[in-house]
Amino acid sequence: MKKLWGGRFTKAADKLAEGFTASIGFDRRLWHQDIRGSIAHARMLGRQGILRAEEVEAIVRALEEIAREIEDGTFPFRQEYEDIHLNIEKRLIEKIGPVGGKLHTARSRNDQVVTDVHLYVKEEVAAIRGLIRDLQAVILDRASGETGTIMPGYTHLQRAQPVLLAHHLLAYFWMLERDDGRFADCARRADVSPLGAGALAGTTFPIDRHVTAADLGFSAVYENSIDAVSDRDFIVEFLAAAAICQMHLSRLGEELVNWSSAEFGFVEMDDAFATGSSIMPQKKNPDVAELLRGKAGRVYGDLVALLTVLKGLPLAYHTDLQEDKERLFDAADTLKASLAVAAGMLATLRFRRDRMREAVRRDYSNATDLADYLARKGLPFREAHEVTGRIVLYAIERGKYLGELSLEEYRQFSDRIGEDLYAALTPEAVVEGRASYGGTAPAEVARQLEKARAILAAK
Ligand code: ARG
Repeated sequence: MKKLWGGRFTKAADKLAEGFTASIGFDRRLWHQDIRGSIAHARMLGRQGILRAEEVEAIVRALEEIAREIEDGTFPFRQEYEDIHLNIEKRLIEKIGPVGGKLHTARSRNDQVVTDVHLYVKEEVAAIRGLIRDLQAVILDRASGETGTIMPGYTHLQRAQPVLLAHHLLAYFWMLERDDGRFADCARRADVSPLGAGALAGTTFPIDRHVTAADLGFSAVYENSIDAVSDRDFIVEFLAAAAICQMHLSRLGEELVNWSSAEFGFVEMDDAFATGSSIMPQKKNPDVAELLRGKAGRVYGDLVALLTVLKGLPLAYHTDLQEDKERLFDAADTLKASLAVAAGMLATLRFRRDRMREAVRRDYSNATDLADYLARKGLPFREAHEVTGRIVLYAIERGKYLGELSLEEYRQFSDRIGEDLYAALTPEAVVEGRASYGGTAPAEVARQLEKARAILAAK
């Protein structure tokens, strides 16, 4: 079969080399963007008087037919035509003859391919931002139902201070809000058209790059044709945003893996979001949460792979750049699936409030409040910390919690302690006391919920 660059060549391609260089196996999914880009290019060529109106019409009509063939599954994808761009162009020429060969006037695959990828990234960012919003909505909904649930907050995976479950869940809302901001930022840089940069230096034809950019919905055009065909920053940014978002999902996954263990027992996965064991009949495994955690490794790999491909790559186009696509597709697919499944899992998760409550009651995580109490009674905080430490040790040795020591016992440590201490040490009082801005007090969590709702409503 004759290649599109047959003129210069006297030998057929080696089969191994052809298979090695072909990208049609994965870049076929850019067909839609490729046809959009080609139609915009053809129309611009007509408008600029570079092609005749009837030529443009024939090309556009055939491209639309090709789109239908691809949708119907009747399009003949052929590896010998290397990639999606050449497959479509070859088919165009098969359909309408030599006039099809005019489409590539004033264009190179170098500006063509990266135009397709810009369009793809813009679409994926929009889809991902929608999924982030959906997950935020679920988090908000679940947090709204847990404004009265007290659980241990952890540092070093040791019980630290009691918090509202709503507060803990909302932390993920704000992480995702930053992810959304990163994707929005990435979309701004993807929103620039490289089309018309040609192979690298521009073109001798009187094209209008602003026309194709506007037609394709781009807000700007690259100022420099060499930069236009060489730039993959916008993909790196996409992968970086995806890696960070996936890292957040991984932390959520890890938390839920822990929480669903018998040791924590804070949550129970819905049957629809868990799996069983092939040997141990009693098991209910949090596979979804585990994979949310595990897939971060994969997306990090995508990011590092592309950064490594780009490192030291001189200007302008090199086939190394073809390696951008599988990484991009993989990260986009992985993140979209992860966001969607995380939303389903969280929406159906059962919180075991009794277990959380019990963990707070039988524990020393109100020790900071004892120290704060002493500080309020005039003891410098450092001394209060020291005294409290000794009280905690005393209590542990006697198998008691802080609320269970008698006033006489307390008085051995400090005569500043009075009856009012007991009320200050209940989980409710401890949580209510943390009313500083952004703290876990119910009033602050209510304010936070309000703000989160407003942000979501504005999206
Ligand atoms: N399949 C190529 C890619 O993905 C398209 C551009 C090829 N350009 C070239 N001059 N070989 O990057």
